[in-house]
Amino acid sequence: MHVVLGVAGGIAAYKAALLLRLLKESGHDVTVVPTASALRFVGEPTWAALSGRPVATDVWTDVHEVPHVRIGQSADLVIVAPATADLLAKAAAGLADDLLTNTLLTARCPVVLAPAMHTEMWEHPATQANVETLTSRGIHVVPPASGRLTGVDTGPGRMPEPVDLFAICQRELERGRTTEAAEPAPARRRDLAGLRIVVTAGGTREPIDPVRFLGNRSSGKQGIAIAAAAAERGAQVRLVLAHVDVEPPHGVEVARVSSALELQEATRAALEGADVLIMAAAVADFRPASVAQSKIKKSHDPGDPDAAPSIELVRNPDILAGIVRDRGDETRPVIVGFAAETGDDSGSVLELGRAKLLRKGCDLLVVNEVGVDKTFGLDENTVHILRRGEDDPIADVGPAGKDVIAHAVLDAVRDATAVSDTRRTPA
Ligand code: CTP
Repeated sequence: MHVVLGVAGGIAAYKAALLLRLLKESGHDVTVVPTASALRFVGEPTWAALSGRPVATDVWTDVHEVPHVRIGQSADLVIVAPATADLLAKAAAGLADDLLTNTLLTARCPVVLAPAMHTEMWEHPATQANVETLTSRGIHVVPPASGRLTGVDTGPGRMPEPVDLFAICQRELERGRTTEAAEPAPARRRDLAGLRIVVTAGGTREPIDPVRFLGNRSSGKQGIAIAAAAAERGAQVRLVLAHVDVEPPHGVEVARVSSALELQEATRAALEGADVLIMAAAVADFRPASVAQSKIKKSHDPGDPDAAPSIELVRNPDILAGIVRDRGDETRPVIVGFAAETGDDSGSVLELGRAKLLRKGCDLLVVNEVGVDKTFGLDENTVHILRRGEDDPIADVGPAGKDVIAHAVLDAVRDATAVSDTRRTPA
């Protein structure tokens, strides 16, 4: 595939060289379009050597090939990394005063912008308004990571790591391949801006001894997809993360936990001032009554070398039900539970879901079917979203990717927070 790598003038330009390598190593043709300021950070020979192609730097070179139009038109993907505040402003306004901004105006393929700047610049209303405009046009603006910036500053504004950007490029190329060329990019939304959302994800592990635990088959992928989608839609996201098979997304604050009790404590702490709790974690209902301080030996009973130990279990707290109880009559946080159901003699998946929603008292319940071949670790899922007080699901989604499901859950969350706002507003 043909990728255009735009580089704007920020210190993170050096990281774009690593992204270029990853793109080249996976077989893409890459044309690098650095701005004049980017070339002050990393020079043309670096881009030429790593891309194996001439570097397009201005609209006046090879004019007979009309580069200001051709480069954008022939791209399968354009990524700008880093995208400075200035570049975002130009792109939002549709300015075209150099080769990169011309390329952005002529591209009809997926476009990804990876902002990198100081926290103040990122949080400035002008920059946020530009991000809003760009996302509404279907451009993927990757939320910057938090961390060390140039100098001694830290905070949101750091360009995500090249390997994360590479993964986003691969996904966008795939999306571009499966979308009709004439179809405009779907508008991306920033409709959760201003909401503080806590997401729990992954499976808890309940220790038996220093090397063994009771665990479950949750991969954490659905919770992580929700956290990533919420951040992309502008929410401030705290992710309480138990054991997962995938890396957490950037742009969200992560608290790592292991057992159900740790998850309970971290979730309650993260909920301080939050508007929404999405409980996607698979919490163990039981834990060993006591944890052996040293590894339990196979022949633990000298009187009977073939004996197997019995492990006594005790109930873990129902974290979700406890948080619902403590919320009392307040409307915040809006609380979303998940129900993994197999269906049994006592009821269908939906019936069991309705009963669970009543029992737990949360506002929304996302019910999905689980089983040996279903859901756990797979990329496709089918869910029904139930709302308290209503019999029929407000949405039936799937089979679909966890991304699509994440957005459907967040649509329901957005509507539920609007309802709870109306309830809070005095008449
Ligand atoms: N949950 C929780 N604390 C627990 C168990 C579950 O907070 N100890 C949350 C999960 O994160 C999920 C919801 O409750 O959002 C439902 O989880 P599920 O395991 O389906 O429910 P259980 O109450 O354990 O019911 P069941 O008897 O069907 O296992």
